[in-house]
Amino acid sequence: MTEQLWQVHFKVHRQRTGGKPYVRTFTLDVDPEEYILDAVERIWALHDRTLTYRHACHHSTCGACGMRVNGREKLTCITTISSVTQNGGTVRIDPLRNFPVVSDLVVDMGNFFLRMDRSGFNSVAPLAAACLPYEQPLTAENSIDHEPERLVDCIECGLCISVCPAANTDKEYVGPAVLASLHLMYVQNPTQEFIDQADHHTGLWRCHSAYECTEVCPSGVDPAWRIMDMRKKVMSDRIKSIFRPRSSEKKNAQPA
Ligand code: SF4
Ligand code: FES
Repeated sequence: MTEQLWQVHFKVHRQRTGGKPYVRTFTLDVDPEEYILDAVERIWALHDRTLTYRHACHHSTCGACGMRVNGREKLTCITTISSVTQNGGTVRIDPLRNFPVVSDLVVDMGNFFLRMDRSGFNSVAPLAAACLPYEQPLTAENSIDHEPERLVDCIECGLCISVCPAANTDKEYVGPAVLASLHLMYVQNPTQEFIDQADHHTGLWRCHSAYECTEVCPSGVDPAWRIMDMRKKVMSDRIKSIFRPRSSEKKNAQPA
């Protein structure tokens, strides 16, 4: 906690389902090292109990608190006020783009979750298999009775879809997170099934290579690189298939 408080005007998007959006301003004295989510919670607690927003873990694990802060996609539980404004001033808070608004800062991510589910991505793994570089794998010495589980890489926050220009123009585009999950599964288990799911005009080939998804991803998934790498695999597979004898040719081939 710093001693100096900043006066910040939070301009917050308000909207009921199907209703007209408008902006309401709330002025708070904040510690600059507080997080944006802290400010939103304070607005709800002290100024307006009708404000709706999503959150759960408060430590960048559940993916629930994604919003646009001054026009940029952020996990608000790890975004400090000082990182988005200098010496007070104004902070604009909006819901994620490319999802229908349910209410205020809450968007409907149902379609996205269904697409992730259909891709077959297993987003939860035992800690030993999913550990990040700073985590220690479980060993005989540090193991506990029940091996904990955590989300693997993608926390399904939707920031990459909100920032994506292709998702903005084509609602059928499956989006960076689904393609990244297909790539992750293909790397672990290189079977045609994952290529087939991704090699589609609403899949790999819809991406404009804007790399915005990689810029905003809070979890180091690097969806843009994964999409490009999957494209390379598809192209090399197609080129190889030109030189591969067709099954009918194989049958007719005579031994030399
Ligand atoms: S790929 Fe990154 S930005 Fe996209 S949903 Fe997963 S964690 Fe969020
Ligand atoms: S509240 Fe869970 S990621 Fe922010």
